[in-house]
Amino acid sequence: MNKKIGILTGGGDCPGLNAVIRGVVKSAIIRHGWEVIGIEDGFDGLLDLSRCRELTLESVRGILPRGGTILGTTNRGNPFSYPVEQDGRFIPVDLSNRVVENFRTLGLDALIVVGGEGSLKIAMELSKKGVPVVGIPKTIDNDLLGTDFTFGYNTALETATDALDKLHTTAESHHRVMILEVMGRYAGWIALESGIAGGADVILIPEIPYDFDRICAAIKKRSDRGSRFSIIVAAEGAFPAGGDRVVARAADAWNSIERLGGIGQHVAKQIEKCLEMEVRVTVLGHLQRGGSPTTFDRALGSRFGTRAVAMIAAGEFGRMVSLQGRNLGTVSIEDAARELNLVDPEGEIVHTAEDMGIMMGR
Ligand code: F6P
Repeated sequence: MNKKIGILTGGGDCPGLNAVIRGVVKSAIIRHGWEVIGIEDGFDGLLDLSRCRELTLESVRGILPRGGTILGTTNRGNPFSYPVEQDGRFIPVDLSNRVVENFRTLGLDALIVVGGEGSLKIAMELSKKGVPVVGIPKTIDNDLLGTDFTFGYNTALETATDALDKLHTTAESHHRVMILEVMGRYAGWIALESGIAGGADVILIPEIPYDFDRICAAIKKRSDRGSRFSIIVAAEGAFPAGGDRVVARAADAWNSIERLGGIGQHVAKQIEKCLEMEVRVTVLGHLQRGGSPTTFDRALGSRFGTRAVAMIAAGEFGRMVSLQGRNLGTVSIEDAARELNLVDPEGEIVHTAEDMGIMMGR
C-alpha cells in the first residue's frame, strides 16, 4: 500500500543524522515506493506547515559524509509546553493538538522521530495522542537506554581522542597539566572512553563525584615519579562529592535545561592552588557535535533509518530501533526514555581505567 511518512530530527545535532535521513528516504522510495516528507527544525516544523517539504532521492544525494542535519533541529520548543509570548513574558502553552492536526493535514501515515531522550519523550506523548511514531536514538552522549550505541557517539569519541593526542605533546613539552573539557551532561561515556583511548591520567565523570585532594595527590605522585605533565579529561557534568555541577547559564522559559560549562576552569583553579604546576584548559565544546561522521556512524545511521522504515511497513509503532550486540532490534520508546544509560562506577570499563592507574576522581 502506498504510504506517506514524515521524518524530523530533534534535540542537539550529531554526526550521522544525514545518513539516517538518507537511509529513510532511499528505503522508503526504492524498497516501498512511498512518499517522504521532511519536517524542519524538530517538532517546530509540525507547528507550521510551510516548514514541511517532500524529500526525494535528489534531496539526499551527497549528504552521507556531511555532519549536521539537512532538516535543521532545535533543542528548545517542546510542543506540550511551548513558550508563547503573552504580555511581554513567555508562558508555556500546550500546542500538541496543533501538531496532531498538522500531522493529519499533511496526510501522513507515520512519523519518524530521530532524537535523544527529550525528543523521544515528546514522541511517546504524541503516540498516546494517536500519532503512529517510530523512534531512532541519537546523541553524542550515548546516554540512551535500550540501545548499545547511539549514532554520533563514535564520531564525538574520535574528535575527543584526537584532541587528547594533540594535547599530550604540548603538555609534555611544557611540563603542564592539560585539562580537556568534553560534553556529557549526565553520562560520562565520552570522557571515559576517549580518556582511556587518549591515555589520560585523570578522568572525571558525572557518575563518580570527585575529590580535589585526591586528584592533586595523583598528579603529585606522577610528578614525583618523573612525569612532569598530566592530562585530565573532565565531562561537563562532573561535580565534586557534596558539590554541584558548573552551570554556565540557568534554565529559562526557552531553555528548559540549564547550560553546563566551566568544569575545566574550575578544576584548573583548584589544581593551581594545591600544586605548583602550570595548568591550561581546552574546551572541546561543539566540535564534538560537528564534522563528517565516522564509518561506524554512517553505517549505523543508514541501518537505523532503513530499519525504521521497515518498522512502519510492519506496523510496529511506539517503538525505537536499537543496536543489540551486532544486530538491530526494537524496544518500546517508553522503556528507552524512562531512564538514562549511565556509566556504572563499578563496571568493567571504569575498572579497566583504574587497573591501568587512571585516577577516576575518587
Ligand atoms: O547533545 C547533548 C549535548 O551534547 C550535551 O552533552 C550538552 O550539554 C548539550 O548537548 C549542549 O547543547 P547546546 O549547547 O546545543 O544547547
